[in-house]
Amino acid sequence: MVEKKLTTVSVIKADIGSLAGHHVVHPDTLAAATKILAEAKIKGVIEDFYVTNAGDDLELIMTHRKGVDSPEVHGLAWEAFKEAAKVSKDLGLYAAGQDLLSDAFSGNVRGLGPGVAEMEFVERPSEPIVVFMADKTEPGAFNLPMFKIFADPFNTAGLVVDPKLHDGFKFEVFDVFEGRSVELFLPEEMYDLLAIIGTTGRYIVRRVYRKKDNEIAAAVSVERLGLMAGRYVGKDDPVAVVRAQSGFPAVGEVLEPFATPHLVAGWMRGSHYGPIMPVPLRYSKCTRFDGPPRVVALGFQVKEAKLVGPADLFDDPAFDNSRRTAEVVADYIRRMGPFMPHRLGPEEMEYTTLPEVLERLKDRFKAVAGEPKAKKPKIESELLSTHAAD
Ligand code: F6R
Ligand code: MG
Ligand code: MG
Repeated sequence: MVEKKLTTVSVIKADIGSLAGHHVVHPDTLAAATKILAEAKIKGVIEDFYVTNAGDDLELIMTHRKGVDSPEVHGLAWEAFKEAAKVSKDLGLYAAGQDLLSDAFSGNVRGLGPGVAEMEFVERPSEPIVVFMADKTEPGAFNLPMFKIFADPFNTAGLVVDPKLHDGFKFEVFDVFEGRSVELFLPEEMYDLLAIIGTTGRYIVRRVYRKKDNEIAAAVSVERLGLMAGRYVGKDDPVAVVRAQSGFPAVGEVLEPFATPHLVAGWMRGSHYGPIMPVPLRYSKCTRFDGPPRVVALGFQVKEAKLVGPADLFDDPAFDNSRRTAEVVADYIRRMGPFMPHRLGPEEMEYTTLPEVLERLKDRFKAVAGEPKAKKPKIESELLSTHAAD
C-alpha cells in the first residue's frame, strides 16, 4: 500500500513593529522575513511559503511535511520574526519587536507571543484553503464566522443539501483562562456551543472537524498576548485556516459570514468594540481610530505541499456593501466615545486608568443613607476578572 503523505499548513504571525504607529507592516520587514523563509525552502525545512501582512501584523503562511508544533518550523518562524524585528529596530519603526515576549526560543512559539493556526492533512486531489488574517481584534472574533460556516444552515447551504456535509461538524472550544478545551457535536449540541462561544474573550473555537470521519476542517490561533504577559503588550490579532469545497463548505460559504460585519473587541487601544471590515490586501492597514478592525482572506490551492495562489478573496465589489455597512456601523458606534458598549467592559480593556481613578476617589465616595450595599451577582464578567487577575 502506498503511504499517503501528510501536508502541514502553518500560519504564524507576530507584530514586530510597524510604520507610522500601529498601522501597517513596512516592506523591508516583509523582505527580511521572506529571505529567511526562502533560504529554509531551499534547505528543505519547508516546502513553500507566502509572506504578507494584516495591518501591522507580519504573517508567515508556510507548507511543510513536519507536522503541527514542529520545533524546526516554529524555530524558523521565530528566526524570521527576530530578523524582521532587527530591521524594524534599525528603521525606528513603532513598537519594534512588540510581540516577541521572550529572548529564549525553546522549540515552540506558543506562549512566546506569536499567534499560530496549523493543520495537518492528507491532500485531496484538489485542496482549496482559505487563510484569514485579522488586525485590531482577538481570536474570539472568529467564533461567530466559524459557527456560521460550519453550523448555520442559513449561511452554509451545504449543511442542508450536500450529503457530504449533512452530518455536521465537531467544534473544539478552548478556554483561554484555564488552558483546557471541550468538544461539542453540531447540530445536536448547538445551544450548548452557543452558550459558551458567545463569550468571545474566553471561549474560543480552536479547531473544527468533519464529524463523520474526524477530518480537520479549520484551525484558529488562540493565543492571547495580554494573558501571557500579564500586562498589555498588544493585540492578539488572530489567524485561521479553513479547508473548502468537496465535503467542506464551499469558498463562498466560507466567506459569507463576513458579508455582515460583526462587532469585535480590539479597536483603539484594545479597548473598544468595532465592526470587522473585510478588505483586500491593499486596504490591509488600520487608519481610522486605529481601525476599524480588518480581516483579509487569501485563497490557495495546496498541491504536493506547494502553495498555488493566492487569490485575494475580499478584493471583490461583492463585498463593497459589507465595507460600507462597516463604515456606517463605525460612524454610529464611534459617537458613543468612552461609553460602553463602544468601550469594552473594565475586565477586558487593555488600557485603563480605572484603578488609579478609583484610588484617588476612594475617600470621596460617601455611603448614601438608606441604600444597602448590593450583593454582587456571580456573573460571567466577574468570573472573567477573577481569572484575569490570577
Ligand atoms: C495596537 C493598537 C493601537 C494602540 C494605540 C496606542 O495594536 O491597535 O490602537 O493601542 O495606537 O498605542 P501606544 O500606547 O503604543 O501609543
Ligand atoms: Mg501593533
Ligand atoms: Mg496588529
